[in-house]
Amino acid sequence: MTMNDIDLKQYIDNIPDFPKPGILFYDISSLMRNADAWQLATARMAHAVGPWQPDQLAAIESRGFLTAAPLATRLGCGIIMLRKPGKLAGETISYSYDLEYGSDTLHIQANAIVPGQRVVVTDDLLATGGTLAASIALLRKAGANVVGASVLIELTGLRGRDKIDVPLHSLMSYDD
Ligand code: PRP
Ligand code: MG
Repeated sequence: MTMNDIDLKQYIDNIPDFPKPGILFYDISSLMRNADAWQLATARMAHAVGPWQPDQLAAIESRGFLTAAPLATRLGCGIIMLRKPGKLAGETISYSYDLEYGSDTLHIQANAIVPGQRVVVTDDLLATGGTLAASIALLRKAGANVVGASVLIELTGLRGRDKIDVPLHSLMSYDD
């Protein structure tokens, strides 16, 4: 058996009824605390993202910070944080988006992007796609050329991919 044969889903704990009754939660905690599995996961992500030749990785608070850091180190590019309100110093640019109940806002530092820079945005999970689509819109507002998106887990049944207009790589997908 080679490294390529390893199914990383075996390291994802499936937790029923979290965060609400009836929801099956795919937990990356169990993947990340296994050093070899996490190494393999980030190596596979880097292999997929590398050909997009990003100048910067954009990390979506908070779990996207965990995918961005190892990817940036492997690819030799910088990291830009996309954060919830009130967290970033200095002038920021914001983008608000609708959730199932209410709305949410993400910020980026106004000087984060050199206009036209190639940016790949990363997060742990694609569910409805609202967070990732808003992140792409924010990055464009800040002047980025968004060349791709990378997530560990895609919940394909929620069709979040339909909201994403850049190449999207997911390491693992679940259809329920
Ligand atoms: C989760 C997950 C993604 C987002 C996906 O983040 O980490 O960022 O939801 O959902 P969507 O595709 O329906 O937008 P959450 O808001 O729970 O916060 P966290 O990352 O800070 O834990
Ligand atoms: Mg998140």
